Amino acid sequence: MVQRGYHRPRPPSPHAIKLNLILIFAFFFLVFIFYTRQWHLLDDQQKQQPFFDEHSQTDRMPDAELWDAPPSYGLRSCVKPTSRYKAAAGWDHYMTVRSNGGLNQMRTGIADMVAVARIMNATLVIPQLDKRSFWHDSSTFSDIFDELHFIETLQEDVKIVKELPQELANVPRARKHFTSWASTSYYEDMTQLWKEYQVIHVAKSDSRLANNDLPLDIQRLRCRALYQALRFSPPIESFGKKLVERLRARGGKYIALHLRYEKDMLSFTGCSYGLTDEESEELRVMRENTNHWKVKKINSTEQRLGGFCPLTPKEIGIFLRALGYPPSSLIYIAAGEIYGGSTRLLELTSRFPNIVFKETLATQEELKAFTNHASQTAALDYVISVESDVFVPSYSGNMARAVEGQRRFLGHRKTITPDRKGLVEVFDMLENGQQTEGSSLSHIIQTMHKNRKGAPRRRRGPLPEMKGRARLRTEESFYENPYPECICASKKHLG
Ligand SMILES: *[C@@H]1O[C@H](CO)[C@@H](O)[C@H](O)[C@H]1NC(C)=O
Ligand SMILES: *[C@@H]1O[C@H](CO)[C@@H](O)[C@H](O)[C@H]1NC(C)=O
Repeated sequence: MVQRGYHRPRPPSPHAIKLNLILIFAFFFLVFIFYTRQWHLLDDQQKQQPFFDEHSQTDRMPDAELWDAPPSYGLRSCVKPTSRYKAAAGWDHYMTVRSNGGLNQMRTGIADMVAVARIMNATLVIPQLDKRSFWHDSSTFSDIFDELHFIETLQEDVKIVKELPQELANVPRARKHFTSWASTSYYEDMTQLWKEYQVIHVAKSDSRLANNDLPLDIQRLRCRALYQALRFSPPIESFGKKLVERLRARGGKYIALHLRYEKDMLSFTGCSYGLTDEESEELRVMRENTNHWKVKKINSTEQRLGGFCPLTPKEIGIFLRALGYPPSSLIYIAAGEIYGGSTRLLELTSRFPNIVFKETLATQEELKAFTNHASQTAALDYVISVESDVFVPSYSGNMARAVEGQRRFLGHRKTITPDRKGLVEVFDMLENGQQTEGSSLSHIIQTMHKNRKGAPRRRRGPLPEMKGRARLRTEESFYENPYPECICASKKHLG
């Protein structure tokens, strides 16, 4: 008989049970560690694959193609008056001006008022700045501009005084809303007012002068006023330059991106593409409640398809990568607060991690003097944008136009203007899978922007289908492209 008792396994000792449990536990623990590490690695690789490989998107563009100014064919800025031009006399008619709008609307408006004062033979009183607009900024003219420099630079053109003479402070003034895009003859007719009044008050300064068909000397005066006389005040000018130096110290070349993606901009344009339903609703309510925005019902889809929406941070990211800018490119964001904050910005920073703001470049202490003054922070953005190697506006507005114009004036520095209408079609192809980010997309986008990099060209006239005065509204702004009047090939009027 088999002694069954012999083969019966011994019950395991309590020690062995413990040991087995520990081994099993340790095994699973190691497996767990191993897998999580693998996942981490995979995760990193996956994260890097689509955006961070310098070669995956497109054949590398030569640096010069990315960063250098387009050829300017020997064209230079030219602002000297012609030989017919006479120095200003000391006229005893005065013009007071209330500038309206944001910083750049005021800047171009003031330059126009210099020209209007010249046409009307008026002494110009230093303009009052807009304190009531959306900007709610209490800054005065001399907070933002170098007042003495303004007066002295234009002394041959127009007499400018800081204030109305005491004895005229209380005389009745002709209060005028001059017509928009007016001609020289309109203002010559307005000199009739001098028969009755010694002071004319101009209630609004924006777009009061036509873009085209004005005497050459008036156009050149506008350029002298904007580009030479209307310099920012010393604190703004020097701090702006300091920020530019800090940018250069970081990487040499940089892109200034005017990223118009603030809440008010999106609400005003009715562009809610890529936003959540709650956000779209918030923007709609804001539009309803803002009295001076006339258009209330906007179809966001149609708005976008027409090319009337600012590009989103994600779209800008795709756009710049497609143009060949490597992920390491240094990008300065010239903008107010981005709607959706850092979450929305992530769609851009994931492609371009080297993104900086004013707040990255300067201490809170340094910024304190400027931050409660929207016009002064905008002025800093302006200086940094004009000095950048590449300027890219995500939307066309007064700032984008003014910066582009000054960059043309300073030697056709590179300004890349996105073809928003064309891009929307391409982005929609990406969205529905007809395209992927890669070299064929790059090719499409680069071809589309071949002639949109700020190379010299004459200012565009009115849209052909427009008739009458409406046509003036559709002309390209003088200050967006002062060619041919203030940019020329001849050496005669350089200066
Ligand atoms: C302005 O003054 C000059 C002389 O100083 C004169 O020749 C010209 O006609 C005046 N212009 C107007 C519009 O009154
Ligand atoms: C907006 O316009 C698009 C395209 O024309 C159209 O398909 C859509 O129905 C419109 N939406 C509304 C709410 O009217």
